[in-house]
Amino acid sequence: MKKIIESIYVVCPPGLENIAAREMEEVGLLASDEKPVIIPGSGGIEFSGGIPALVQANYSLRSATRILVRMGSFIATGFPELKRKVKRLPWQQFLQKDSRLALRVTCKKSRLYHSGAVEERVLAAIRSATGYKLPVVKDDSETTAQLIVVRLQRDKCTISIDASGEALYRRGYRQAVAKAPLRENIAAAMLLSSGWDGEAPLVDPFCGSGTIPLEAALMSRGINPGSQRQFAFQKWPMFDMKQWEMFQEKFTGQPLDKQPIIIAADRDAGAIDACKANAERAAVLENLTVINQSFSAIIPPENGPGWIVSNLPYGVRVSKNKDLRNLYTKMGTVFREKFSGWRFTLLVNDLQLFGHSRLKHAKPVGFSNGGVRVFLVRGKI
Ligand SMILES: C[S@@+](CC[C@H](N)C(=O)[O-])C[C@H]1O[C@@H](n2cnc3c(N)ncnc32)[C@H](O)[C@@H]1O
Repeated sequence: MKKIIESIYVVCPPGLENIAAREMEEVGLLASDEKPVIIPGSGGIEFSGGIPALVQANYSLRSATRILVRMGSFIATGFPELKRKVKRLPWQQFLQKDSRLALRVTCKKSRLYHSGAVEERVLAAIRSATGYKLPVVKDDSETTAQLIVVRLQRDKCTISIDASGEALYRRGYRQAVAKAPLRENIAAAMLLSSGWDGEAPLVDPFCGSGTIPLEAALMSRGINPGSQRQFAFQKWPMFDMKQWEMFQEKFTGQPLDKQPIIIAADRDAGAIDACKANAERAAVLENLTVINQSFSAIIPPENGPGWIVSNLPYGVRVSKNKDLRNLYTKMGTVFREKFSGWRFTLLVNDLQLFGHSRLKHAKPVGFSNGGVRVFLVRGKI
């Protein structure tokens, strides 16, 4: 029988492919001899794997944005050829009579260059293959529609179907947001790349709505990021719902023996309220010490040194640049005075501004945070 799933594509923030690939390895998604395809900056990692891998990737990867299934790839230089080859794919396994579709089509350096015309032919072929009406929603961010991604590059057409539905960084726990909230998968990627061992204390002195401390608590409790939400694949005819509970049981992590101290602090009272409300919804409030105070007043826990992981105030988003220069200078001084021997992983959008802290660091990792260029800066105080 022909393979239903050609390969699986893990979408992540462009620039964070290596962190996501390491997580895939750590959770056991890759066969021991498998080398996933990683193109730096592409925003994705391709690997082989069947339905269990697809379910596990959705359910347990903390740094991923969404998971796509590659249904097939083929050369198409004309519309009849495109329709014929799209029609051959196993659509019945993924679509139901009442499915609604959203299509994302891109054409690059190909004879079929008009994305609207390609979309029309692909849709006609899917409708003809299934016999279903399949209405199309124009807004592809609509999470109840089944997203199909069509990519034409140098006449090679790749057809993928989204297995996640709503983006994976929407864990389901965050409703209250403070200023400039961070996506949950980026917070998780920061923690994964920080080298935090899960035992030493962790401090976020600029916690906002608490995304980083919450993700840290979910990790230390062994709670899967997908445990509070639904996925697009659960509606696929090929997916056996009876197996779902079995999958969940199999992939449920174990809490660490000793829970670490996780401090979430912010000087803004509204942000602290949001942090507490989110932590309660995620059922991890008891794992956090939430404090409403300025970073300069924080007293480091005694069982340090530990890790500072934080998303620093951004020039363009939180306050004016002049104030921020002083804040970064003071942060460097406070960290040196109080947190000697601690490690830090900080998210910044302006390396020159960060220079005012005079904190020594390794080469920053640049990536795109929802279209804004940002950097992960890591070092030891
Ligand atoms: C970029 S936001 C952090 C967003 C957070 N990661 C989230 O997901 O919601 C920066 C935070 O720094 C806080 N902040 C600014 N100056 C501060 C100070 N001196 N001490 C403590 N927090 C401060 C702001 O209130 C804001 O919540």
